[in-house]
Amino acid sequence: MKKLLFGAFALSMLAACNVGEDHLLNQEQTDDLTSGSSVTQRVCPSEDIRKEALANNSDLMARFVDNESKTEKFIEDLKMGRVLADGTVEIPVVVNVLYRTSAENISDAQIASQIATLNNDFGGTNADVNKIPSEFASVAAGDTKIKFRLDRVIRKSTTVRSWRTNDAMKKTSSKGQDAFKPANYFNIWVVGDMGGVLGYATFPESAGLWNDGVVIAGKYFGTTANAPYNLGRTATHEVGHYLNLRHIWGDGNCATDYVDDTPTQQDKNFGKPTYPQYDLCGGVNRSIQFMNYMDYVDDAAMYMFSAGQKSRMQAITNASGARSGLRIY
Ligand code: ARG
Ligand code: ZN
Ligand code: CA
Repeated sequence: MKKLLFGAFALSMLAACNVGEDHLLNQEQTDDLTSGSSVTQRVCPSEDIRKEALANNSDLMARFVDNESKTEKFIEDLKMGRVLADGTVEIPVVVNVLYRTSAENISDAQIASQIATLNNDFGGTNADVNKIPSEFASVAAGDTKIKFRLDRVIRKSTTVRSWRTNDAMKKTSSKGQDAFKPANYFNIWVVGDMGGVLGYATFPESAGLWNDGVVIAGKYFGTTANAPYNLGRTATHEVGHYLNLRHIWGDGNCATDYVDDTPTQQDKNFGKPTYPQYDLCGGVNRSIQFMNYMDYVDDAAMYMFSAGQKSRMQAITNASGARSGLRIY
């Protein structure tokens, strides 16, 4: 709405002001030439030049309007405390619980434990942060400045025994639950069972679409008794994807995750590897960062995001990012 108003305003302003600008510019130029180097008044023609360019180029005009609306959003976000002065963004979370048995109808306490884990892992306040090897301590993300706040829990009984990764849980029409305003709320679906899959996520190109969000099997949601996936890090990993992180091995042999401070590695890791783990990608023999949340190790063996990953997540949540709609309103 605001964006539309602004666009209309910009157009009318230009229509009203453009006539005669050419003449004015030429006039000033002539004046300068005749008066030699003795400029008596400062003249900055930038806005005049811009006005004419915008009036004659609708692409440029669209870019101008887009920049202004993003700037306006950032300032409004700051003013309303949706983005804190230090850049911290707080994301409102909706947990959709789909249960068949009463055990699958997980408790509020279990949900709270997952939110707490997300805030610790993304805030760099996780209890095992001191396990980060010194080689990687210098590139650890610390506080990513992304926080999570539980907005509501939506519980729904279903007859489905086991879910597949086909998004059926995200539609009321297929015995699931429609997403709650996915452009403005981070939706999590907690389901009873997904076979061998612990969880899966959509990436930011899906921002605001009906299926946008993360699915986690209830057994692995929050702090549970289900070692080795008992510390809520399935959600930490999937939220990483939701905020545009790729697997640390780039889903290929020595492929890239587009993050400089996560060394290239040949493949995923499982279990509880011990540091160092040497991996010869591109001829450089140094340890890989298997303790990164975006690897496949056990919950107890993953305890860091890198600074480069933090930058990617901030890029996607800031005012011009695909997930800029995620704010506490
Ligand atoms: N999507 C992955 C899976 O289903 C998540 C792995 C998360 N790893 C973990 N230790 N919780 O296997
Ligand atoms: Zn993954
Ligand atoms: Ca990397």
